[in-house]
Amino acid sequence: EISYFFPTECTLAVIKPDTSEELREKILEEIQVAGFTISQQKEMILSNEMAEEFYTQHSDKPFFNQLVDYMCRGPCTMLILSKEDAVQEWRMMMGPADPSMAKETAPGSLRARFAKDILENIVHGSSSLHHAQEEIQLIFGGFSTKSQVMSTGADDEPNPLE
Ligand code: TYD
Repeated sequence: EISYFFPTECTLAVIKPDTSEELREKILEEIQVAGFTISQQKEMILSNEMAEEFYTQHSDKPFFNQLVDYMCRGPCTMLILSKEDAVQEWRMMMGPADPSMAKETAPGSLRARFAKDILENIVHGSSSLHHAQEEIQLIFGGFSTKSQVMSTGADDEPNPLE
């Protein structure tokens, strides 16, 4: 029996609040030009609780409250991006959190070009495949990243994209 494997990875990308409609459209276009598939997309205003959960690994940092306030300030565009090596590829496209650093080390990145400062840095991307799965579960619920690995075998989970 022949099986076909597509080792496509999924990551969660967020266009953060206060991003103009024009810039949002530009980012979405660049995402597609870079070869990502947008598997899911929605606009959503995070509750305080969700933003705290989303950034729970930073809960002891001095910038935590500001970060949570920023993330709840308006609608976020939530995206599940899929591509080979999507987690790393999207983080490369974003650049480092601090735009002054980004301008030095990754001048073509989204943050180098568009971020206001280290807090209001316009985009998020999961930092690992493990975090991607947790974040996708939190934001989209029930979406299994395993669905991206398809085969002709009979033991597959149903594909929620269909
Ligand atoms: P971090 O996980 O370090 O960066 P990334 O977003 O690239 O994964 O930090 C998460 C967010 O926290 C970052 O996007 C913006 C905010 N932040 C600050 O406001 N001040 C800081 O000094 C740092 C490191 C992060």
